Amino acid sequence: MELFQGDIALISGANKGIGYEIARGLTAKKITVLVGARDEARGQAAIAKLKAEGGDARFVKLDVTDHETVRRAAEWIEKEFGRLDILVNNAGIAEWGAKPSGVDLAKVREVYETNLFGPIALTQTMLPLLRKSKHGRIVNVSSSLGSLTLSSDLNSPFADFLALGYNTSKSALNSMTIQFAKELKDTPIKVNAICPGYCATDLNGNSGPRSAVQGAVAAIQYATIGEDGPTGGYFNDEGRVPW
Ligand SMILES: NC(=O)c1ccc[n+]([C@@H]2O[C@H](COP(=O)([O-])OP(=O)(O)OC[C@H]3O[C@@H](n4cnc5c(N)ncnc54)[C@H](OP(=O)(O)O)[C@@H]3O)[C@@H](O)[C@H]2O)c1
Repeated sequence: MELFQGDIALISGANKGIGYEIARGLTAKKITVLVGARDEARGQAAIAKLKAEGGDARFVKLDVTDHETVRRAAEWIEKEFGRLDILVNNAGIAEWGAKPSGVDLAKVREVYETNLFGPIALTQTMLPLLRKSKHGRIVNVSSSLGSLTLSSDLNSPFADFLALGYNTSKSALNSMTIQFAKELKDTPIKVNAICPGYCATDLNGNSGPRSAVQGAVAAIQYATIGEDGPTGGYFNDEGRVPW
């Protein structure tokens, strides 16, 4: 039996895109997936598809910007399962098109609410349940656009992508990953950030060259990394990404 078989995983924004494919990959490993979705109909539609493929999936109402739904989700998970083994902070939004000088500050705050404060709230709230797991894995779905090394290298393919809210929120999410990894370094819980690569999803008008299935690979890998695996790192499906 594999280490994570029978485990419980919560994924935010699991009703579509990369989050859905992470859910599909984890159910294929016989992990029970709690599909975190802010809209029940969209969440249930995803669950029906996962179940049609033999997966074990349950709906959890979760808007990462609404801390009451986060609190209620934790209460329900505690009652149903008494623990959480895997948390994937996947839900994300982006603002494209404006130069940094022209981005509406309200839009930047909105992006931060979903991409940074949401994961912080979800991680803090789920941590008591993750501490009850035999292992405990946290995966933060970041982006290469959050890499200061890549975005400051003028020869990098990421150098020209200007998105003040999105890019800086993902850099901050990377920093958050390090913070939690340090706090949890003497526990079995591992905390890593991953980058899916540029994938065709609704986030980018389906423009990416990779598929959501490919985008899910690194998240699935680090959600189920063994006890000898890393913590506090930043990875894609080929290995380490520079911070
Ligand atoms: N696609 C790429 O090329 C790419 C590259 C690097 C990183 N990423 C990251 O990958 C993650 C998934 O993105 P994606 O490309 O799969 O985009 P997507 O298809 O637009 O999916 C985003 C998911 O997040 C959910 N969501 C948004 N705001 C939420 C909130 N406040 N509470 C709960 N759920 C919320 C959406 O739910 P609704 O259906 O209700 O809107 C949807 O399920 C994001 O963190 C993104 O930054 C994507």
